Amino acid sequence: MRNKIAVIGSGFVGATTAQRLAEKDLGDVVLVDILDGIPQGKALDMYESAAIELFSSRVQGTNDYSDIAGSDIVVVTAGLARKPGMTREDLLLKNAQIIESICREIVRNAPDAIVIMVTNPLDIMTRYALHITHFPLQRVIGMAGVLDAARMCAFIAMELDVSPVDVNAMVLGGHGDAMVPLARYTTVSGIPITELLDETAIEQINNRTRDGGAEIVKLLKTGSAYYAPSSGAVKMVEAILMDSRRIMPCSALLNGQYGLDNVCIGVPVKLGRDGVLDIIELNLTGEERASLHASAKVVSDNFNVLIKR
Ligand code: APR
Repeated sequence: MRNKIAVIGSGFVGATTAQRLAEKDLGDVVLVDILDGIPQGKALDMYESAAIELFSSRVQGTNDYSDIAGSDIVVVTAGLARKPGMTREDLLLKNAQIIESICREIVRNAPDAIVIMVTNPLDIMTRYALHITHFPLQRVIGMAGVLDAARMCAFIAMELDVSPVDVNAMVLGGHGDAMVPLARYTTVSGIPITELLDETAIEQINNRTRDGGAEIVKLLKTGSAYYAPSSGAVKMVEAILMDSRRIMPCSALLNGQYGLDNVCIGVPVKLGRDGVLDIIELNLTGEERASLHASAKVVSDNFNVLIKR
């Protein structure tokens, strides 16, 4: 049977995600938006490239959530994007309303799907989606660490003049100012970057990774990043659909791991057909652990704001 992937939101992130999914032939793609004509137009345009790009995925655009029925995965990208000067948390209340309505549609129309959250503020929206859907924790996963790690790989590749393909980075924590890039667990073809770069250079890379989203927002002036975020979401979809058991940093619900409870935060996750198969617990220094806990506290505090409204 063909895989079916729904992408909610046909803006920059959603449309690029749909295009990458189709071009990788990962399954049939349904692009959903509230805007009349936009998902339909973009989907048709994409499908008209199939004979040239050589993919067989069907791409359908719709305003009707019943079309997501039977989806194996729902990637949620709907919401407002960050404007210059706006923090991810500024987006909190607006996007929570949108996520709530979408989650209710997912429960109604695709109750067995795995949800990949992309909308910001990421970790809070992931936790909120779990709260609204009541899906098992294996089936609601946030895309952030894959993006943050890919950004770190790019900066290391630029600094060392090596291929980003050989760089393997690990970033834990929240997708935001409190993220925790882990130089100790970051390598270039197996060589720890601590052997290749001095402390100052690593600190600069960590900071640029932490501010990676804001750097793009500042350059674009209107809107936020979408090429790398869509790549991150598609990497997760592929690992799940292929049951590949790849390990990548994702936002997942913790139940005691890392000394944290009932919070979604970026940790190394093993992904397979059932979603989160395992959460890997790394040995952290006191400082790294403190950063992770600080990051988790921001997520918990904001989640509590949402549920106490
Ligand atoms: N259902 C479906 N689509 C919706 C809904 C809804 N309830 N509400 C809003 N949308 C759609 C908008 O109509 C728009 O087409 O979501 C789309 C968002 O697209 P963009 O404004 O282009 O935003 P984008 O850059 O794609 O970012 C989306 O991803 O990376 C995050 O921070 C980013 O939270 C933001 C999200």
